[in-house]
Amino acid sequence: MATYDAIIIGAGPGGYVCAIRCAQLGLNVAVAEGRDALGGTCLNVGCIPSKALLNATHQLHEAHENFEKMGLIGGAPTVDWAKMQTYKQDVVNGNTKGIEFLFKKNKITWLKGWATIPGAGQVKVGDDIHHAKNIVIATGSEAASLPGVTVDETTVVTSTGALTLAKIPASMVVIGAGVIGLEMGSVYARLGTKVTVVEYLDTITPGMDAEVAKAFQKILMKQGLRFIMGAAVQGVAVAGGMATVTCKLRKDDKESVLEAETVLLATGRKPYTAGLGLEALGVEMLPRGQIKTDHFATNIKGLYAIGDAITGPMLAHKAEDEGMALAEILAGKSGHVNYGLIPGVIYTTPEVASVGQTEEQLKEAGRAYKVGKFPFMGNARAKAVFQADGFVKILADKTTDRILGAHIIGPGAGDLIHEVCVAMEFGASAQDLALTSHAHPTYSEAVREAALACGDGAIHA
Ligand code: NAI
Repeated sequence: MATYDAIIIGAGPGGYVCAIRCAQLGLNVAVAEGRDALGGTCLNVGCIPSKALLNATHQLHEAHENFEKMGLIGGAPTVDWAKMQTYKQDVVNGNTKGIEFLFKKNKITWLKGWATIPGAGQVKVGDDIHHAKNIVIATGSEAASLPGVTVDETTVVTSTGALTLAKIPASMVVIGAGVIGLEMGSVYARLGTKVTVVEYLDTITPGMDAEVAKAFQKILMKQGLRFIMGAAVQGVAVAGGMATVTCKLRKDDKESVLEAETVLLATGRKPYTAGLGLEALGVEMLPRGQIKTDHFATNIKGLYAIGDAITGPMLAHKAEDEGMALAEILAGKSGHVNYGLIPGVIYTTPEVASVGQTEEQLKEAGRAYKVGKFPFMGNARAKAVFQADGFVKILADKTTDRILGAHIIGPGAGDLIHEVCVAMEFGASAQDLALTSHAHPTYSEAVREAALACGDGAIHA
């Protein structure tokens, strides 16, 4: 079998990006992927299909709630679930085929099948053993399990099953008010499902700036999502196609029981490394199942790991950044990821986005900071599209004015956050943002106004 400069295991955003960069830098590269389509969890059963459903159901919401207000009169659309599923799958196929095209363009070999690593420098796919100077594990993650909950992907589903339910359920219990629970909960709430979210903690989306999390929860409640906070799910029983969810309130140990047609388990994900043969190879692992790495290198010479399989936020773009950085390293250059500036986005309506430090983190670190806030209520464009809920919050150093973090809840937040990311990469002050011309009328003016609010004040507030 052929010898490669690098074999990458897994064609998700970490693996395929690493492969393309390796090829661009002149390395002879192959990718082992067992799925029928490239793109990993993100493209096949994660980010991309969920965004298709979020888009379709957002449009439905607009038709029902806002069309008449704009003088658009007529029968509001009804849902053809099978057709919506086809649309979603077409979006997925278009993207996965796009990666296939990029593989061909960059002369990357797709080793079709599930890979194992029988020895250092070897990757076995099917009956063939391939040799590589470098092996990169980019195998991603899978849904974490919860004691007492058996996933059947029909009644009790993970994010994967939630994308392909046989029908729109009348009721759904979502376990976990994290990113998956709230995105998919929003989808089904907009489709008319009665959605109840059970969350162990007292706030949704742990780690998010508390003020944003609070505003976010209020908005979701207005959209019809019901929350049971501070409750630990003890177990789920399924009988006759209905699920019974038992949870216990943390404050008084009181048990409550919820019934639903569908239960979505969204209590986090864990690295997916089973079956690679890492134990036999003697690869050092961390207690929570991640592969131990130092600048992506494992303890085995020539074996590297990136993405969800190692520490850090389980985000597609973090994996992509690592894939690119590692390719640079393998090609003899220097590769770097700025872990302090990885944005996080939740694609609900409104979107929620953040980068850098939260107010809680700054307080805990004892850092003197100032807050510049601007509500979308003062943004003409947001008002025109009925999305004036939410705000932009910029945190800057009290003395130097250097931007330390930004938190946005509002229209297009997932795109708006990136001007702050770029500003922060360049070590900008809030004033630098405030003095930058922003086109009118755009949502981005709200970012500028928040930056102005870090100084002498916003104009439209
Ligand atoms: P998560 O870690 O975001 O949230 C899990 C939630 O479940 C937490 O709030 C936790 O307190 C709660 N929880 C845990 N045990 C519980 C119990 N027994 N009862 C009730 N609540 C319980 O995990 P999630 O949403 O499953 O997402 C997994 C990963 O996928 C995350 O790392 C996320 O960043 C990533 N992801 C990112 C997306 C994005 O960037 N837009 C979209 C989807 C997933």
